[in-house]
Amino acid sequence: MAPNTQRDRHTDTQATDLQVDAQRLLSELQQLAGFTHCEQTGQPEVCAVTRIVFSDDDMQARTWLKGLYAEAGLSVREDAVGNTFARWEGAEPGAGAVGTGSHTDAIPHAGMYDGTVGVLGGLVAIRTLKRSGWTPRRSIELVMFTSEEPTRFGIGCLGSRLMSGTLDPAKADALTDSDEKTLAENRVSAGFHGELSGVRLPSSHYQSWVELHIEQGPLLERDGIDIGVVTDIAAPASYRIRIEGFGGHAGALLMPDRRDALCAASEVILTVERAALASGSIDTVATVGTVAVHPGAVNSVPSRVDLQLDIRDTEPDRRETVMLAVRETIHELQARRGVRIHMDEVNADLPAHSDAAIVEAIEAACAREGLSHRRMVSRAYHDTLFLSRIAPTAMIFIPCRNGVSHRPDEFATVEAMQNGVAVLADTLRMLSA
Ligand code: GLV
Ligand code: MN
Ligand code: MN
Repeated sequence: MAPNTQRDRHTDTQATDLQVDAQRLLSELQQLAGFTHCEQTGQPEVCAVTRIVFSDDDMQARTWLKGLYAEAGLSVREDAVGNTFARWEGAEPGAGAVGTGSHTDAIPHAGMYDGTVGVLGGLVAIRTLKRSGWTPRRSIELVMFTSEEPTRFGIGCLGSRLMSGTLDPAKADALTDSDEKTLAENRVSAGFHGELSGVRLPSSHYQSWVELHIEQGPLLERDGIDIGVVTDIAAPASYRIRIEGFGGHAGALLMPDRRDALCAASEVILTVERAALASGSIDTVATVGTVAVHPGAVNSVPSRVDLQLDIRDTEPDRRETVMLAVRETIHELQARRGVRIHMDEVNADLPAHSDAAIVEAIEAACAREGLSHRRMVSRAYHDTLFLSRIAPTAMIFIPCRNGVSHRPDEFATVEAMQNGVAVLADTLRMLSA
């Protein structure tokens, strides 16, 4: 539990002049959650959201969001991949802007807070500052990034990778979805034309960048801390693994003659788990999150399996040690089980380190708001990982219930969101003055 002084803050008067309308934020989050392709559970406080990039739900949510931006008096720009910028022009429009934002796409059966709190919370922060009568010297830009989630094109942070020049535009345009439709085709159908190379921003564009997000882990709630100040973002990597064996009739193909691709895949999956556990660090995490079995019939021996592996660590060298063990197992399995295994690297990124001055600005905002805070590492990745390649960055985390995320029961209290937005607004005010 947070100290009582912080509980009183919201029932009494605000510690600063910033009056955050957190009820409106909740109401807008709920409206955004309505743009979903997902069955609901019927349980209160459990809202299942699936919003895949460029789906009808995503496109309708974008239109709704642009309406809110216009209503708030922000000018809107979209780039060739659909990253959406809502700008509050500062007194010095030529000066580097202060950026904030996150994503609104959601993986299958996700919750309603991941990413959305950073976009709608960013909008509430801007409204709060406008209402206070304050005007920025540097422009403040709120960004909704295209496809932070890797669901459709197999790679996360598509929009921010392109924005930071981390992903080659031609390679990006050639990425395909499960219908073999390229990103180039998808974005043009969605109305986003022009060269992807134009998405890249110069490092002078943002003078600073701050993203608000739910923690997606248990630490803040467990220790009763109001705000997490992110100092580092762990380095993610992902791989596609294809295992080719020998299929046939489940009754007639004798056991000694089998080259079952799924049995080989199981050994790969267990090696991933064992090697991550053996790293000796709590910061090493590895997951095989998708398994596609061909031909996928109960009475047919699997002849082909496709896996997607997600692995992260604060230390890229330690991540590489785990991958070494995976490669050794693959080598050994090919000989022992007579299968063929190909592994393709999708991405292997470096970690991000926050800017000391922005971290201190967030901490000063927490102090002014009377909120407890702690410095922490983000084990989830965020668009800020890539913004850090072109701008000084940091992140603001708020607690979420039981640390749950990427699940329909993901939940953050109105008070936690109010705290997060107040700290974001105060930080934006400091950075853009
Ligand atoms: C982002 O959604 C992540 O997987 O960390
Ligand atoms: Mn996510
Ligand atoms: Mn997110």
